[in-house]
Amino acid sequence: MQEIFLQYKTVIIFLHVMSAVVWVGGMIALRFAAHASFMEIESPIKRLERIAHALKRLFCIVAPFAIILLVTAIFMIKGYGISQSEFAPFGYAKEGIWTVMFINLTIMILRRNRAVKLLNAGDMVGAKFSLELIGKFMVPVNIVLGVVAILLGTFLSNAF
Ligand code: HEM
Repeated sequence: MQEIFLQYKTVIIFLHVMSAVVWVGGMIALRFAAHASFMEIESPIKRLERIAHALKRLFCIVAPFAIILLVTAIFMIKGYGISQSEFAPFGYAKEGIWTVMFINLTIMILRRNRAVKLLNAGDMVGAKFSLELIGKFMVPVNIVLGVVAILLGTFLSNAF
């Protein structure tokens, strides 16, 4: 694995950084740009439908990049021998952050699917509650965690 990493180091780091850009940047764009625009839609049903649709598109885009992020991280853990180095705590912290972000993403996907079912069944209150939790709490949590992971990545990139 170390040999593969050394041979394709540039590509692996590029994919790692690119995945973080898409995952974290995508969430920021939806939360702070698109969301403000959705709030202008007067019909509450249309508003919830548009938000649910945009979330579906976002999750479809970021899910493969979340996996690429992990695969490239594993190459870097082995390639740099992070676990045996003095920077092991940084590596463990990033692994932990990725795990929480991925669990959060999975729960958001399930909640969004549930919200769509509730919308189709005419339960506006239930659908609104599910989507609100995603927008007000779950996406911001993943944005903060993502930014911390990027910061730790900057330390690691100076270390190796
Ligand atoms: C799964 C555990 C992770 C590990 C073990 C890990 C490991 C690393 C390492 C070793 C570097 C330095 C690469 C180099 O320059 O040679 C790095 C950089 C980076 N990581 Fe991660 N990472 C992980 C997860 C994440 C996550 C979840 C994000 C963001 C969502 C992220 C974003 C970045 C970014 C943006 C850089 C580039 C920083 C820079 O070049 O200044 N990483 N990571």
